[in-house]
Amino acid sequence: MKIGIAGTGRMGSAIAGRLLGASREVVVWNRTQAKTKPLETAGAKVAATPAQLAGQSDIVITIVTDAAAIDDIYGQMLAADVSGRLFIEMSTVRPETEVALAEKVRAKGASMVDCPVGGSVGPAKEGKLLGFVGGDDADVARAKPVLDQLCRRVEHVGSVGAGARMKLAINLPLLVYWQALSEALALCAPLDLDPVRLIDILADTSGGPNMLKTRGASIAATLAGKETTPVTVDIETMRKDLRTMIAEAKSRGFELPVTSSVLECFDAAVKDGWGSRDVTMFPARFLGKAR
Ligand SMILES: NC(=O)c1ccc[n+]([C@@H]2O[C@H](COP(=O)([O-])OP(=O)(O)OC[C@H]3O[C@@H](n4cnc5c(N)ncnc54)[C@H](OP(=O)(O)O)[C@@H]3O)[C@@H](O)[C@H]2O)c1
Repeated sequence: MKIGIAGTGRMGSAIAGRLLGASREVVVWNRTQAKTKPLETAGAKVAATPAQLAGQSDIVITIVTDAAAIDDIYGQMLAADVSGRLFIEMSTVRPETEVALAEKVRAKGASMVDCPVGGSVGPAKEGKLLGFVGGDDADVARAKPVLDQLCRRVEHVGSVGAGARMKLAINLPLLVYWQALSEALALCAPLDLDPVRLIDILADTSGGPNMLKTRGASIAATLAGKETTPVTVDIETMRKDLRTMIAEAKSRGFELPVTSSVLECFDAAVKDGWGSRDVTMFPARFLGKAR
């Protein structure tokens, strides 16, 4: 069985690497072709176009920036004969984007599930993502063996679009936490504690999310003046997620006051030129201003 991956950015590359490591036959395509080189070296085939990728794959995974990227790539993939293919769409977008896409996929005689993921590049490389799947039972059953190689936990949460809804929900408290952590650190800055000790204390409290355990060392290093490299998830992507959550709530007739306020903080970071930096740098910027 051949698995196609369209979009080999940070997450797509990590997922492709994981599947290659599990001896899967993998074919990749990326708009910026240079990003497929390391995967080609690791044994992946490279398709020249999205249509060529979709035409030769049994299952196609996509994990790209946003709805516009999905439109561009699927517009080209669905031009090929894709009948019988299964598409697994993993980007973080609004549920309605996945629902509309699934209709187009079905019209071409193919199937689709959405499966946005929790966890970043590290968990993707290790097959320890959290997968939230939306789709028909039969399609989810078909996707499951591949998802099980990528995820430590796969939750089928409803029909197509349900995965996207769940993903926005799990990211919301985490994104609010980045600003909450920034403000907490500003409050205790006069203590001048060693950043490693400070993050360790915060991680051991009820207010400390799991993320502090996995990314705490990186955050502490940024507080000591170090830049986080390589970037695993950038501030601009987190800002996109906040905007997506707010748009989703608005379309259903309610506001997200805390999320909206956090978006303003992320807007300010991007305005200051921090958009391409890793999100673990986010508190360091705020602290620099609060001193
Ligand atoms: N990074 C994380 O920790 C993480 C975790 C969970 C979920 N996510 C979600 O996963 C998705 C990808 O994130 P990422 O961090 O991997 O982003 P990334 O490294 O910036 O990669 C984005 C990918 O989208 C492609 N793309 C963007 N616009 C396109 C267009 N118009 N046409 C064709 N391709 C286009 C890019 O192609 P080029 O290389 O040509 O630009 C690249 O392959 C996002 O929805 C993000 O919210 C990310």
